[in-house]
Formats: sequence, structure tokens, C-alpha cells
Amino acid sequence: MKKEQRGQWGSRFGFIMAAAGSAVGLGNIWRFPYLAGENGGGAFILIYLLFVVLIGMSVMLTEFAVGRMTDTAAVGSFRSIDNRWTFAGVLGVISAFFIMGFYPVVGGWAVAYIFKSATGLLAAPDAIGDSFGAFITSAWEPLVWTAIFLFLNVVVVVRGISKGIEAAGKILMPMLFVLLIIIIGKGLTLPNAGEGLKFLFSPDFSKVNGEMLLAALGQAFFSLSLGMGCMITYGSYLKKEENLPSNAFIVSGLDTLVALMAGLAIFPALFSFGMEPAAGPGLVFVVVPTIFAKMGGIGVVLSIIFFVALFVAALTSSVSLLEVATSYFIDERGWSRAKSVVSVSIVMIILCILASLSLGVMAEMPIPLLGVGTFDLLDILTDKIFLAIGGVLVTVFAGWFVKKEDLEREVTNNGEVSFGLFNVWYTLVKYVIPVVISIVAVVGIMGIAQKGVMILGLAIIAVLAIFSKKL
Ligand code: PHE
Repeated sequence: MKKEQRGQWGSRFGFIMAAAGSAVGLGNIWRFPYLAGENGGGAFILIYLLFVVLIGMSVMLTEFAVGRMTDTAAVGSFRSIDNRWTFAGVLGVISAFFIMGFYPVVGGWAVAYIFKSATGLLAAPDAIGDSFGAFITSAWEPLVWTAIFLFLNVVVVVRGISKGIEAAGKILMPMLFVLLIIIIGKGLTLPNAGEGLKFLFSPDFSKVNGEMLLAALGQAFFSLSLGMGCMITYGSYLKKEENLPSNAFIVSGLDTLVALMAGLAIFPALFSFGMEPAAGPGLVFVVVPTIFAKMGGIGVVLSIIFFVALFVAALTSSVSLLEVATSYFIDERGWSRAKSVVSVSIVMIILCILASLSLGVMAEMPIPLLGVGTFDLLDILTDKIFLAIGGVLVTVFAGWFVKKEDLEREVTNNGEVSFGLFNVWYTLVKYVIPVVISIVAVVGIMGIAQKGVMILGLAIIAVLAIFSKKL
């Protein structure tokens, strides 16, 4: 498709808010704190930060550049340069489907907890943990909230790039910031808040191992929306005069800031109330309302604010996931936007139903041969396997299959913006990043406990690669 016919971002602020909106999501507020909690805090956070700076930012710039250079979404970008690489884009579209197979489930929980906070959840602090367990394992209730969440996504994405995604991001992202600051302010003034700061910022390196490295790397990719074509797609809607390096820097900086803010919002208060940091995926949904419940009346208001923020963050991310899959059918199959969105959403809702049920009704019925339920399957496949390998693919592709002059022209807007670090970035992309990710991925992926899932993930990638030219 020609540029004129494709959607474009209306303004620079709009793009940054949308890209940051994609990056900032459940990954930052739901997942980052519980991963940090499970992995012992400081060391995990330090390694995570290192991955963001050394790998994440450069990969983001790579994706912006490849997307804008080729003017097409994920699959077309790879294909238009070298059709042996089409599979790398298709892998991204599959990752988008798979992440959207569980993301709206958690997004639905967030919506539910806005209402639960308002309707008496906090009245019995000791029951909050049990009530979360009962909620997510019940059959219908979470599904209804998931459906509401997914419906809101469809509404945004059907409206298209500038009126839908951009308009939502511009209002909702700044709101999220303010909400988090309010909560942090409250948490830091609680007695014993210093314990939480110590947990977050003093590293214990005895916790470091291959699995933890992969968890930190996978989280960096997940949180920055990398390794699956999302930033390629967003980059393809970006105007030629935008400064790509500074956008990549700002977006990854904002994302990291929000993750750290989420940590600051949760851990000081958590330690102040003497609770357990390694509470797993329930951390946000159990610990946060419990903390708020112990604060009295104001707690109810803060809890509502918090879950609105979580919902907002989740929505601006999931619209980007939906957009990756949707744009594939628009750009590659010539479907209308409305038809693409609706078809894609139908597949997603089916995956979500299975994912949600796998936590409760079907918990005793793991998928044969794989030994896990749908929720865990989709999570492990994407976060531990597809995104990291997607990161290797996009950097190897850019470093070895795109001409260096073309990349340089793209990231400097034909020499109009200066990017003094071009050679550093190029060396990272061409040599360092693929090697580092490969090492972490090999060590980490081999260590995945669920061997069936590991084999399935690698097999999917192999099959796609073999049939790349036919995709
Ligand atoms: N980055 C989003 C988050 O942190 C999730 C996401 C992953 C969005 C991949 C788009 C692509 O919640």
C-alpha cells in the first residue's frame, strides 16, 4: 500500500503516547512487580535495567527504523526486503495472537477490581486473597469481564490509527502517571517503608541463574513491546521527519520509569504491612487491595484509582497487540479494517476463554503432552521463547540483510538529524545483541521446566522458517 492510504500518527506527542501506551501495560504494573518479588528484588531489577539499556533501546530503534523504512507492518517489512524472512513477521503476528490469548483475561480482572473495590471488597481485608482465588477460578465471572475488556479494544482499534489508538493514548497515559504518583506518595509515608526500598534497590546476586536471566530478558521484551513486530508496525505509521533515536529513547525510558514506579507503589507499602513479596501473579490483585483496605476510607478511593490505572495501561497495550494482528490482514490480505478487527478478535476471545478456564474449571485438565493449561502455555511460549527469538531475528535481519547505508539514512532522516551513536548502535545490533540474546535464550530456554512447551515453541519457529517463502 502507498503511504497516503495508510493510517498515520497525527502528531509527535500522539505517537509517543501511543508507543509508550503500548509499552506501558500489565507488563509494568502487574508482571514486573511480581517477577521482581519472586526473583528476590534488587538483583533482578538491576539485570532488567541492564537489558533495557543494552538491548531493549537498540532493538526498539531497529524496529522503528525497519517499520518506517518499509512502510508496512510486521510481515510486509520483512518480506519486502527479503522473503526468506517473512516468517519472522509471521512469528510476530502469532505472538500477538498468543499474548492476546491471556492479556485480556488479566485486563478483565483489572476492570472487575475497579468495581469490586467500589462495592465492598476492602471491607474484609483478610478475605481479599481468598476472594481473588475464588474469582479467577470461577467459570463465568472473569469471562464476562474479559469480554468487556476485549470489546473496548475493538472499539478503539476499529476507529483506526489517529482517531482511536492515538486519541486514547493521549488522554489515558498522562492520567496513569498522576495516579501512580498519588499511590507512591501514600506508600512512602507508611512506617517501615524503607524495607521495601531496600528490597527493590539492594541486589542479592546469589539469586542470579539462567532462568532468572531469561525471565529478566523476556520481561524486558514483553514490557517494551519488542520482538513481535509491534514497534515495527507502529514505526510504519510514523512520519518521515520524526527523530527515531530520540523517540526510542523516550519510549523505553518512560516504560522503565513506570515499571519502577509500580515497584515503588507496591513494595514499600507491602513491607510496611509485613506481607509476602513472592506472592506471584496475584500480587497486585491481592496485596494492593489489602494494603488499601488497611488504610481506611481513603483506601477505597485509592484502590479504585489504582485499578483504573491498571485498566488504562492494559488497554493501551492490548490495542497495540490487536493492531499488529489486524494490520496483517489489512496490509497483506487486503481486508477492511472492520472485518480484520472483528475476525481477529473472535480468535482472541476463544483463546481467552480457554486461558481463563484453565485457571479454574479446567485446572485439573492440562493440555495433553504439554502438561500446562492454556494460560501458562501462551505465557511461556511468548514471553520465554517467541519474543527473545524474535529479538534475535529482527537484529540479525537489520544487521545482516538490510544495507547499512539504508539504515543510516532511515535513523538520521537522510542525514537531517544527527545520531552520533550510530556506529555504536549498529555494532550492538549487528554483533552484540544477537549473541547476548542467543546465549541467554539457549541457557534459559533449555532450563524451561515444561519441556513439551519448549519443544512446541521451537517447532513452531522451525516450521515457519522452513516455509517462509510460502507465507
Ligand atoms: N508491553 C506491554 C505490557 O507491558 C505488552 C505488550 C507486549 C504489548 C508486546 C505489545 C506487544 O503490558
